Amino acid sequence: MSDAIAKTAQKAGTNAAQRCIVPGCAAQFGIREQIYVCRRCGGPLEIEIPLDLLKSTPDLRERWQARAASHDPRDNSGVWRFRELLPFDDDAPVVTLFEGNTPLYDAPRSAKYAGLTALRLKHQGCNPTASFKDTGMTTAVTQAKLLGARTAVCASTGNTAASLAAYAARAELQCAILLPQGQISPAKLAQSMDYGAVVCEINGNFDDCMRLISELADVPSIYIANSVNPFRIEGQKTVAFELLEQCGWRVPDHVVVPGGNMGNSSALGKGFDEILRLGLIDRLPKISIVQAEGSAPLAHLFAGLKPSGSAADATLPDDIEPVATPRTLATAIKIGAPVSWKKALRAVLRTRGSIITVTEQEIADAKAVIGRDGIGCEPASATTVAGIRKLTASNKIHAGESVVAVLTGHVLKDPDYVSHYHRGTLSFESVTADGTAKTVQITGAFRNAPEKVAANKEAILKSLESRR
Ligand code: F0G
Repeated sequence: MSDAIAKTAQKAGTNAAQRCIVPGCAAQFGIREQIYVCRRCGGPLEIEIPLDLLKSTPDLRERWQARAASHDPRDNSGVWRFRELLPFDDDAPVVTLFEGNTPLYDAPRSAKYAGLTALRLKHQGCNPTASFKDTGMTTAVTQAKLLGARTAVCASTGNTAASLAAYAARAELQCAILLPQGQISPAKLAQSMDYGAVVCEINGNFDDCMRLISELADVPSIYIANSVNPFRIEGQKTVAFELLEQCGWRVPDHVVVPGGNMGNSSALGKGFDEILRLGLIDRLPKISIVQAEGSAPLAHLFAGLKPSGSAADATLPDDIEPVATPRTLATAIKIGAPVSWKKALRAVLRTRGSIITVTEQEIADAKAVIGRDGIGCEPASATTVAGIRKLTASNKIHAGESVVAVLTGHVLKDPDYVSHYHRGTLSFESVTADGTAKTVQITGAFRNAPEKVAANKEAILKSLESRR
C-alpha cells in the first residue's frame, strides 16, 4: 500500500465523530469527548466513520485477509485487523487479548432441528474470556486508556463484567463491576474475581445496576464500559466483517442473535451497514433478534408496530415499555430495560428482520441440540436456534436460505444450568397474569444424564448397547 493511501485510510479513524442517532437532533461531538449519551437531547450516540475517505482505498478486503497472517499484535486481533473502520489513530495504545477470529461452524443437527437445509454458527464464545463481549471491550478499554481514565466500570449480567475485568487488568486500570446479587452464573463471577475486579454485588436486578451506572457517568476518572458506550459497538461491529470474510463475501440471507441490552444486534447492524455503504457487499442480511419470553420488552414493542412500507429512522418510537421484573434462566439476557433498543430496532427494521420470543423449554432444548453438534453454548446463545426454528415454522425463514446464528457465550459459562437440564432437575419460577408464582419443570427432551455403571467391562458394554 502506498503511503498516501495508508494516510487516507488512517484519516477515516482520526476524522471520526460521535453523533446522536435521534434524527431530529443529530448533534455531533468530538471523538475524544468523554460522553455516553447526547449532551443536547440525551439520545444514544454512534460513531460516524467518514466512509467516503475509504471508498477510494483499493483492496480493503485483501488487506484485511492478509493481516491474519502477519505478526503485528494488532493483526492478530480479529478486531484491529479491520482498523481502517475503527475510530483510532494508528498509534493508539491498543489493549488486546487477541480477540475475534472466532470459528464459523457448520451445524447439521441444529439445522435439521431448526427446519433448515444448513445452518452456520458463529461462535463468539471462542473469545479470550469466552463471550462476544471481548470484541467490544478491546476498543472500549483502549479508549479508556486514551482518555486517561483511572477506573473502568460496568453493570453486568456476568459476561460484560468478566470481559471488562480482563481487559482492564491488561491495561492496568482499576475495574469495578456492578452485578445483581445472586443472579449471576458462578462461573462468570469467578472470572471477574480472578481478573482482579472490585466486585460490587447490588441488591437489585441488572436494570437497577444500569441505573447506578448512569449516575456514575459524570465522574471524570470513571469510564463506563457498557454497550451504551459507542466505542464498545465499534469493536463489536467487526464481527460482521469477519463473518462476511468467512462467507467469502457472499451475504447470508439471515443473521440471528439473542437480545438482552441490545448492543450486539446494534453492532451487527452498524457493521453490515458500513460494509454496504463502502460498496463491498450489495445487500444486507436480515437481522433478527430473539428474546427470552419473560424478558422481552423489544419483542413486545416490535409486535405492536404497525407494518410500514418504509423502514426510515423516523418511524422509530420514542419509548419502550420496560419489563419490571424480567425472568429467564438464561441470566445473561435477564434484562427488562434494554439500553440500546433504538439502535437494535433500527437495524431490524432496515434489514426487514424480526424480533421474537422463545420459551424456557425451547431455549433449553435448542441448547442441548447445539451441544450435539459438538459445539455447545450458554443458554442465552441458544435462543438463536430456538428462534430460527420458530421463524422457519412461520415461513419468515425458508429451509434453503443461508442462515447464521451468533452464539454469544461458551457452554462452560453456566455449567449448573447444563447439569440440571441433563439430570432432569431444571426448573423455572413463572408468574401468571394474576401474580401467582408457580414452579415450572423443564423437561430434558435431549437429556443425557450420567448413570452409575459397575466397574467391569461387561457392565460398560451393556450400558453402551442400551444407549446406542
Ligand atoms: N448472550 C450473552 C451470553 C450475553 O452475555 C448477553 C449480554 C447477550 C447475549 C445479549 O447481548 O446485551 O448485546 O443484547 N450480556 C450482558 C452482560 C448484558 O452484562 O454480560 P446484548
